[in-house]
Amino acid sequence: PGLDVLAKRAGLLYFGTAIDNVVLNNTKYVSIAHNRSEFGQVTPSNGQKWMYIEPERNVFNYSMGDAIVKPGIKAGQMRRCHTFVWHNQLPAWLEKGNWTKAELTKVLENHIKNEARHYYDQCYAWDVVNEAFEDNGTWRDTIWLRVLGKEYIELAFKFARKYASPRTRLYYNDYGIERVNNKSLAVAALVKDYVKRDIPIDGVGLQAHFTVGRAPTYENIKASLNLFIKEKVETALTELDVRLALPDSPEKQAIQAEIYANSTKACVDVSDCVGVTVWDFWDPVSWVPETFPGNGNACLLDADFKRKPAYYAISDML
Ligand code: XIL
Repeated sequence: PGLDVLAKRAGLLYFGTAIDNVVLNNTKYVSIAHNRSEFGQVTPSNGQKWMYIEPERNVFNYSMGDAIVKPGIKAGQMRRCHTFVWHNQLPAWLEKGNWTKAELTKVLENHIKNEARHYYDQCYAWDVVNEAFEDNGTWRDTIWLRVLGKEYIELAFKFARKYASPRTRLYYNDYGIERVNNKSLAVAALVKDYVKRDIPIDGVGLQAHFTVGRAPTYENIKASLNLFIKEKVETALTELDVRLALPDSPEKQAIQAEIYANSTKACVDVSDCVGVTVWDFWDPVSWVPETFPGNGNACLLDADFKRKPAYYAISDML
């Protein structure tokens, strides 16, 4: 049985993967990516981001997102949609614009309205806001914060609730919140405030981009998941991968395997952690080598599509 079959038996809603548009011409890759028993859920790694969806103001292009969402629907896989509001991968017209608060609010609403309607009822969850906090728990300095002030996050959630299907879960998503620290505490405080004020938020996504040698433990991750669950929202590991400093070695792969299994187990063992998504399953398409030079081999399958110890560690644990 594949990872999703095992994950469902263990009580999760899904075990999923991100899929990048650049490899959709690789038939071997695509057959694994859309194999429902392996991956019961898919996330477009890039295709639903602002720069691709609305490359010019009020001009929408859903081809990259659809190229992953449509085959996902056909294969019976759940979809996590990613992402409405982020500071990265914004189109130039937006990033370089000289916006007033009123204008940028309109731009935000129009974007969410169109994208949420296009994917109406096609997303189990939307990552409504991505990476709004710094590691020390302060608000990240972005165009959103500078022009709209701290209200921008709740505006985004309100627009998402207004235009997305009522069945779609609305998530805040971030990295570095997989243990109890200033950043996860800041996110939990935001959630608490939103729940109290009826701002529509349903979940917190923990990206879980880990590194061999300094990953959080099973206990760390569980404690952090519980921070959010305590505030009455669900959680998920949304972008799990475990990079290592090259050159690779059997020892590093063994530690990597343990981190993958422990992270998945933390989600399984916590009541309201609904699923685990890996940020791609195939080493050659991982974002890691480009973003963290000298690091790589962060995924479950190697360049030959051979299952690595990490794959077996997860399936054995499940
Ligand atoms: C990454 C993609 O995987 C890359 O292909 C792209 O060049 C940059 O973005 N956190 C997120 C994801 O929320 O959207 C990022 O995806 C990885 C970090």
